[in-house]
Formats: sequence, structure tokens, C-alpha cells
Amino acid sequence: MPDEELLRPYDLMGGADKVRELVDRFYDHMDTAPEYTKIRRMHPPELASSRDKLFMFLSGWLGGPQLYIERYGHPRLRARHLPFAIDSEARDQWLACMDAAMAQTQVDPAMVALLQRQFAKVADFMRNVPD
Ligand code: HEM
Repeated sequence: MPDEELLRPYDLMGGADKVRELVDRFYDHMDTAPEYTKIRRMHPPELASSRDKLFMFLSGWLGGPQLYIERYGHPRLRARHLPFAIDSEARDQWLACMDAAMAQTQVDPAMVALLQRQFAKVADFMRNVPD
């Protein structure tokens, strides 16, 4: 494996299995914990497709295979979130749910700190209604 591949967050985290595990814990929390009800209600009753899409997106976003783009084209994330009313409470629920998933998946603390900053930027960009 070339050295630069070892520097990708995707590899530093542990590759596809770890990213899949992170996404699964993320949606498990969203599906069961009462503090994420607001964002859970925006999602379809069955989460299998949401899980697959977030896994494919994060794979590429973390520097691994661009699975989402290969399948669906440019993510246009903000546009794809416009059907859902996302305020700062929804943003914070999403980020808290991801924090819980990273803790449970035992992502390295330095990587958690890096990803928290990057997730926060993307999540804030998704806000599309005033508080
Ligand atoms: C800010 C709070 C957020 C809320 C409330 C939210 C909510 C949602 C909802 C309701 C869906 C549709 C699920 C489905 O159709 O199965 C979705 C899709 C998606 N979200 Fe989010 N999201 C948020 C932030 C983010 C962030 C920060 C990312 C990336 C880091 C992200 C990545 C995605 C992706 C890749 C999809 C699939 C898009 C598609 O192809 O339809 N979301 N989100």
C-alpha cells in the first residue's frame, strides 16, 4: 500500500468495515434514543437505504472509494436536504448522534477531534430554516 493511502482518514480509521460500523451505530442511536426524535422523524421508517447512502458518501468523503459519486453522481448535499426543515436543533442532534457513534465505534480521539470539526461544518451548511 503506498504511504499516502495510510494518511487517508479512511485508512487511519480502519477502512470499509469501520466506516460501515460507524454508520450502523449512528442510525441505531437515531432509531432508538429519544434525544434524536426530531431528526429520526425526517427519515423513512426503514433505514436500510439511509444507512447504505451515508456509508457510500462517507467512504469517499474520508478519502476512500467514491462509492456514492459512482452510483448517484455529485452529492449536492445541501440541495438533497432541502426537503427537510433543518434548524440548529436538528443540526445539533445529528452531530450528537455522530459523536455517540464515534465513541461507540472507538474511533481514535485525534481522529474524532478532526472529524467533529469537519462534520460540524457540513452539518451547519445543511441548515435551511431559521431557528
Ligand atoms: C444537519 C443535520 C442533518 C439532518 C437533519 C439530515 C437528515 C437527512 C435526511 C432526512 C436524509 C434522507 C434520508 C433518506 O432518504 O434515506 C438525509 C440524507 C443524507 N444525508 Fe443527511 N442530514 C443532516 C446532516 C448530514 C451531514 C452532516 C451529512 C454528511 C456528512 C449528511 C449526509 C447525507 C447523505 C449522504 C444522505 C443521502 C442523500 C441521498 O442520496 O438522498 N447529512 N439526511
